[in-house]
Amino acid sequence: MEPILRIENIDKYYGNKSNLTKALSHLSLNVDKGEFVAIMGASGSGKTTLLNCVSTIDRVTAGHIYVGQTDITRLKGNHLNRFRREELGFIFQDFNLLDTLTAYENIALALSIQKTNVKEIEKRVHDIAKTLNISDVLAKFPYQMSGGQKQRVASARALITNPKLILADEPTGALDSHSSQMLLASLKKLNEQLQTTILMVTHDAFSASYATRVIFIKDGQIFNELRRGNQDRKQFFDHIIDVVTLLGGE
Ligand SMILES: Nc1ncnc2c1ncn2[C@@H]1O[C@H](COP(=O)(O)OP(=O)(O)OP(=O)(O)O)[C@@H](O)[C@H]1O
Ligand SMILES: [Mg+2]
Repeated sequence: MEPILRIENIDKYYGNKSNLTKALSHLSLNVDKGEFVAIMGASGSGKTTLLNCVSTIDRVTAGHIYVGQTDITRLKGNHLNRFRREELGFIFQDFNLLDTLTAYENIALALSIQKTNVKEIEKRVHDIAKTLNISDVLAKFPYQMSGGQKQRVASARALITNPKLILADEPTGALDSHSSQMLLASLKKLNEQLQTTILMVTHDAFSASYATRVIFIKDGQIFNELRRGNQDRKQFFDHIIDVVTLLGGE
């Protein structure tokens, strides 16, 4: 199968000669369509940097990243904007909701821009709101919502366009365990039913156990990976915990 995402030998350096941080070095990774990949690793290991390079928020220092046939490290201007808007769904920790819009309006925004008809928008917003258990906050503005509610609204906004590639940085970081499970279950459902490809950074093995593959990053390089194969979620979880424990013991 043709991979949907090809990361080829990328470096990402921050700072200058006298104060250089090598956040990623010689990192390569292929992701097939329909994979749900979790990225784990210690704080500062380069997880967010990797996601930001794929999302084009950050520019790589060297190397190439292909999404489908497109080298996204070369995209500029309108092509870059269109790529972000049409191919990607972002779920970030700092929600990025628009303060002057209600939850409903925030979620519907991307569909309104695509000129989807109003009835269709209404149906899709209510469906996703139900899945993420935010139906009762749709009329509220961000300042009237809890952190977890904002996180779920931001997730709904990322998922509603059915993007090809979902990029999520600690999407359950601010959620209680019930909301976490609901969000993870809806990501898994999208992944299984629509073959949506997901790249999710997480520090917790429970979240990672929803994925089909877990990649471990250390000092800006991939040094291990686990595939779920035929294991059920609990077995995969135990397996992930074993690796995390091993790493913690170093
Ligand atoms: N804008 C920046 N300028 C300079 N250094 C940076 C910048 N962003 C990240 N770094 C450095 O790059 C390295 C990787 O950071 P990154 O944010 O990718 O880590 P992370 O794995 O996401 O960590 P965490 O689990 O704490 O979120 C760190 O050493 C960090 O200090
Ligand atoms: Mg991070």
